[in-house]
Order: sequence, then structure tokens, then C-alpha cells
Amino acid sequence: MKDIPLHEMSPDDWDEMNFPRPDVQGFDEVVEEAISRRGFMGGVLAFGSGAAVMGTAMLKGTTAMAGQSDRFAFAQVPIQTDSTVHVPEGYNWDVLVRWGDPLFSDAPAFDPANGVPSAGSDRVFGENTDGMELFNIGSGRELIAVNSEYANRKENLPNNEDGTPASAEDVVLLQQLQGVTVMEVAEGPDGWEVVVDSPYNRRIHHNTPMVIDGPAAGHDLMKTEADPTGTASLGTMNNCGAGRTPWGTYLTCEENFNGYFGATEGLPTDDVLAAGYTRYGVNEDGWGYDYHKWDARFDVSKNPNEPHRVGYIVEIDPADPDSTPVKHTALGRFKHENAAYALAPDGRVVIYMGDDERGEFMYKWLSRDKYVPGGDTSTLLSEGQLSVAKFNTDMSGEWVALTPAATDMTEAEIAMFSRMAASKVGATTMDRPEWVAVNPRAVEGYCCLTNNKNRGVKPNAGGDDTSPNGPNPREANKFGQIVRWRPSGDNHASNTFEWDLYVMAGNPKTQEGPYAGSANVNEGNMFNSPDGMVFDSTGIVWIQTDGDDSNEDEFEGMGNNQMLAGDPVTGEIRRFLTGPVGSEVTGLTWSSDKRTMFVGIQHPDAPFPDGEGSLPRSSIVVVKRDDGALIG
Ligand code: FEO
Ligand code: CA
Ligand code: CA
Ligand code: CA
Repeated sequence: MKDIPLHEMSPDDWDEMNFPRPDVQGFDEVVEEAISRRGFMGGVLAFGSGAAVMGTAMLKGTTAMAGQSDRFAFAQVPIQTDSTVHVPEGYNWDVLVRWGDPLFSDAPAFDPANGVPSAGSDRVFGENTDGMELFNIGSGRELIAVNSEYANRKENLPNNEDGTPASAEDVVLLQQLQGVTVMEVAEGPDGWEVVVDSPYNRRIHHNTPMVIDGPAAGHDLMKTEADPTGTASLGTMNNCGAGRTPWGTYLTCEENFNGYFGATEGLPTDDVLAAGYTRYGVNEDGWGYDYHKWDARFDVSKNPNEPHRVGYIVEIDPADPDSTPVKHTALGRFKHENAAYALAPDGRVVIYMGDDERGEFMYKWLSRDKYVPGGDTSTLLSEGQLSVAKFNTDMSGEWVALTPAATDMTEAEIAMFSRMAASKVGATTMDRPEWVAVNPRAVEGYCCLTNNKNRGVKPNAGGDDTSPNGPNPREANKFGQIVRWRPSGDNHASNTFEWDLYVMAGNPKTQEGPYAGSANVNEGNMFNSPDGMVFDSTGIVWIQTDGDDSNEDEFEGMGNNQMLAGDPVTGEIRRFLTGPVGSEVTGLTWSSDKRTMFVGIQHPDAPFPDGEGSLPRSSIVVVKRDDGALIG
């Protein structure tokens, strides 16, 4: 500690003097461990080199590529700060569908200044596109199931102050523009288009009937006046990332559901309810949607259990437009980002999942029953074991089963309050787990840890310590990283694994030490806040960002949010696409013939894609190679 006169001390100095850090910080131990071991990439270790940059100055300034890949068939796109999409030379892009485009010929027209009217807002493509999957249902028909994560209130209600709903009708507009769209798509002479009036087109939104199954179904805390059985709810909400099952269903993931609820007459005081609200962030005012003032279902003064009925993985059969979506409580309740499946050698289904909040956890679920192609899959996601990740500094880790014995909670309580169960077993607090992806060419999983300004600064909402730890080594983490694990015995059902960091994002131009990033980050490919992540069929990992696109200060040289391709073997990362200013690039899928890539552009700031005079419109774009060759 420097000798600083008291009157010149900053709050940080004062804190340091009164609460000195231990000589050996958790991070230094991690560095030592990491250097003494080899990461998965061999030679230049993704984790080891990054750690060395941070911890020892030994490799300070190392920004060389981890390795050059010959697997990328494109030249890197430079950063951009403009209002459109850029792809590499030899590729082209076009718009498939925009917020407000018709799914049915009776849909209301989109007004460039006012958006979509409330009546008929369930007949158009929803707002703020996010996770998506394409399904080939035979006879040459292809369906895309895609999330609409949230509604931009100011754009949807431009005549209301701050976009605040002023009527039940306004609330219905917002409710119907979110959720999920299922739509048939086809490639014609003018490129890819939505097949308007296809019998498969469907909107699933905040008022669509759902079935609740699994351990929490029927529990007293799941019952409401409208549903005294606790097995049938309305609506899926804040559908963020996505996933699919091997049997052709879509998994939509409920993330920041808490923001839709509020209380007109105070929050309930019951201890169990209050503890759950605190951990999941349900409060009196909500996030400005004001549903609770117009729709009693969202008023926790009147319907205190309603928030327990969201925060799940929801299974939708896109090929059956009359099917009722199923909320699978077995897979836990938290702010679900996405769901990535793997099959264990014995046929059991593994689903990896992240809980996107600062200092929350990474989860794995293992089905009780085995998947048999062509067999009955209707209850495969109904019974199984939820586990949570614990990372050790020696680069080993385990999935700790959330059982009644380990948590002193019932199975139903573990399903409804999974965060509390995970805290009880000492799970590793993470830097906001966003998308998880499973490599189809190697037995390994990846998770984007997008950023975490609270790392080492304050505990999570459950009071768990968030000191820097193995996969989350940087205090007040601004840039994010991607953790990777390899299950023991090459078996995704195994409860132990080894891990490393695939990349630590950073800025080698303006930052030193930890924030310069790992060896596979350089001034050419740098980015921040990895979020979306999907493997293509060839084993390339596609990384999408949702970060600071100011292109200033510590983010100088990173430009707009983007999509990059990563080689899991060499570690090379190359920028493939840049989004319009203000947007997040999120959601990725491919046509069955792998000649088209569908990419989501969420919440652009500029009037993308229609140009001046129009509201900005979240959109799905199609990307192809000029020569029509495979693209994934
Ligand atoms: Fe909806 Fe965590 O992104
Ligand atoms: Ca996300
Ligand atoms: Ca994000
Ligand atoms: Ca988003």
C-alpha cells in the first residue's frame, strides 16, 4: 500500500487500506496452475498465455495469433461504425423478414412512423429477433422458429410519453409482438422469403396457452386463481436464445421474465415469496412495461404466484401448428439464455444452459430416459437431473447434482428456485453465462461469459461471493470470455470435466495486462461481450457480440457488434460480419442445404434496413456465397 495522506485518499485507496487484499489472490493461484498445465490448444495456450499476460508480465504484449487456420474461406471484415450489414468479399446479404412484416395476408400494414397497430399485432413477425432454429419438415418445406425477445416501448408506442402503455390495448400490442414466431421460408427467384399464409405460420406470445410439466407442475406455488391446478399457464416471455432437440422440436428460453411484473398494492410479505422475488428480481415497478396496471395477471399484489410460472425452457413442435407449448420445469427456473443439447453414448439427453445474470451459474440437465430415434419423445424432457457447474483452479470441474439431499429442498422447490439450490451447493459464480454451444466434431461444450462489472466488486443477488475465480479471472470484467469444457471419458453424461478458456476478449491496442486479452485476440479481430454462439456442421464456432459499440476508450478499434468465426483447434478467430450501429447480432441458423445462413439483427439504432424515414427494424438477414457454395 502506497503511503497516501488521508485527505488525498480515493475511496479505492481507503478500501485497500482498511480491507487489504490477501497476498496471494485467487487469480495468482489460477495463473500458476494454468501455466503449469497445458490447455486444450497445445503450444500457445488460450488460457495459459492470457493468464500470463495478466499475471506475470512474462508474456506481456503477446498478441500473436494462436495459430493460423486454413478452415476459413473468407478474408476478415474490418470493423465498421455505419448503419448497415457488412460481409466478406465473395458473400452477399439480403433481408428475409423485419419486425412488422406480415405472416398472413390479413395482417395490418407496418407504418414506418408508428409501427404496428394493436389489433392484428399477432399476425406479423415480432420485434427484436433473437435465437432461432430451422426445421426441415419434409416435402421440401423449411420452417424457422425464432424468438422475439422484448419490445422496444418507445418505438411501438411512439405517441405515449416514454413509450409507457396508456391502455390495455397498448399492453396487448407489446405482449403480442414478443414471444416466438414459427414461419415457413422458401427460396424463390427473388431470394428467400417468408411464405405468407403458410399453414405452419404461427405466433406464440405472452397470452398463448402453455402446459406446465415436470416436478413443479401442480405445486401450490404454481397455482393461480385462473389455474387452480398449477399446470396450465399463459404465455412465454423474454424469449432469448434458443435450442433444438434431436427429435425436431424447438426450445425457447425464458430470460428476463421478472421485468414484466409489478405490484399495484405492494409486494407480498410472505417469506418464501419475498426471498424468491429478491433472488429473481421481481419488484414493485417492473421494467416499465406496466403490464400490471392493465392486466391483473402481471400484478403480484393480486397474483403472487404468476412469476413462478415463467423462467423455464419451453418446448414447441413447429411442425404441429395446433400443439400446445410445454414448459419443462425439470430443466430449472432461472434467466435462461439458451439450451444446447448433446447425446450421451447411452442415448440420454444432455442440455447445457446458462443463467444470464451477474454472478449466476451454468447448468446441465441429464434426462432419465434415453432418446430412441422414432420412439416416443413426448416426456423425454420431463424427468431428469439438474446439475450446476463448479470450476476448480486446477482446471478440473464437476457438475454438482441439485438433489433434495444436497440442497434440503424438494424436487419442486429445486425446479422453481434453482438459483437458491445452486447457491446451497457452492456453484461457481460466473460472468453472465450467455449462449452455450456443443461442438459436433469433438466432445466439448463452450459458454460465452459476456461481461460482469460486478466481478470482485459485489456479491450476486443471493449473496454469493464473486471474487475472481478460474474461468472468471478479471475483476469488473468489461470484455468477456468463452469457457470450454471437456467431459471426462468423452461422455457428456459424466459429472466431471476439464476446462480452459477458448478466448479472453480484450483490447491489445489500448489496454495492458488482463484487458489486453488472450493470445488469439489481436488488433485486427478484437471484439467485446461474446453472447450468441452456435457451431456449424463443420465444427466452426460462430460468435456473436452484444457489447459496447462506442468504438471509444477501452472499446476503441472494436466497432459495431459483429459475428466472428472461431477455429476450435487452432484458436484463430476471424470477423465475418458487422451489424448496423446500435444493434446486437444474435441468432443464427442455416438452410438444410447449408448454402444459406440466417443471422439475427436485434435493436438497431439507425433506420435499418429501410433507411431514412423509417423506424429501425430488427430483422433476420440471409447471407450466401456469391458462388452458391456451402456456408456452414
Ligand atoms: Fe437475452 Fe442474455 O441475452
Ligand atoms: Ca443474449
Ligand atoms: Ca447480452
Ligand atoms: Ca438482447
